[in-house]
Amino acid sequence: GLPARVRIHEVGPRDGLQNEKTAVPTDVKAEFVRRLVAAGLTTVEATSFVHPKWVPQLADAEELFPRVRDLPVRLPVLVPNERGLDRALALGAREVAVFASATESFARANLNRTVDEALAMFAPTVTRAVEAGLKVRGYLSMCFGDPWEGAVPVEQVVRVTKALADMGCDELSLGDTIGVATPGHVKALLAALNEAGVPTSRLAVHFHDTYGQALANAYAALEHGVTVFDASAGGLGGCPYAKSATGNLATEDLVWMFRGLGIETGVDLAALTDTSVWMADQLGRPSPSRTVRALSHK
Ligand code: HMG
Ligand code: MG
Repeated sequence: GLPARVRIHEVGPRDGLQNEKTAVPTDVKAEFVRRLVAAGLTTVEATSFVHPKWVPQLADAEELFPRVRDLPVRLPVLVPNERGLDRALALGAREVAVFASATESFARANLNRTVDEALAMFAPTVTRAVEAGLKVRGYLSMCFGDPWEGAVPVEQVVRVTKALADMGCDELSLGDTIGVATPGHVKALLAALNEAGVPTSRLAVHFHDTYGQALANAYAALEHGVTVFDASAGGLGGCPYAKSATGNLATEDLVWMFRGLGIETGVDLAALTDTSVWMADQLGRPSPSRTVRALSHK
């Protein structure tokens, strides 16, 4: 049967805001994180310690992180390399994430590396993070389709996921970066990973909603036994290095589905919707989330 409880890994402040055209003030970001925590989210990906020229929107990580780090929740941050890890450790981060690609084209565009060169960059980063007692998540992008290469073979995804798992990442998040996955493909990938020795208990799913399939994909993963779901408040998001990436699965849409299924998330949907409406006002455009629109009568 379905689980009684799931964990939502909120990525709005990171995946959501990394792609914004206008600069979001650090004060607004800190308030966003604080409100997400107040709405009951227990894991909030706060920012990235990447090269500031590659992602200017998150160049204020040093100012933002100290303002939110004492909140009583998990606050993972993205680090691409040891330089990023050093910056995160200096500010007391307790949880980090590296981010690999299943495809060569995206590894080049996002990390300026081949897939294997990127893995070689992550290995010492993950080892040192584990030694420092941090939790380490490994993201895997382009698990279903790639804007340059088209459909991505399952074996390619399995190889890189296993490499991240063997390196010491305790959780592996399967990213549909450009939102082209469909439920049958999701089930096939999860089954192939299990066959290759990666248990479902270590997997999370990360869907973008380009084709309106993100919620159906999440349900397929739920049926397979996945209990960790990435989502972005209000459906904010995209990826600056993948043109066809649109917003993430909206946290509100996901919570609405889980609520209907009687599955506990700990999230106060009204408080979360208020937060997304507030954030939409800050950004000057309405939330694309159907649930936010329905509940806020906007
Ligand atoms: P590079 O240009 O190859 O860097 O970029 P490098 O290693 O050659 O270093 C060049 C200079 O950058 C050096 O300085 C380094 O110190 C500095 P110099 O010696 O010339 O003065 N540098 C840094 N500075 C600050 N912080 C750092 C850092 N690293 C190097 N961490 C690099 C390689 C990985 C750094 C770059 O490509 C990068 O930052 N990429 C990040 C891209 C990114 O954040 N993308 C979005 C997140 S991924 C995503 O959204 C997908 C996801 O949501 C899942 C999904 O949907 O699929 C997770
Ligand atoms: Mg993403």
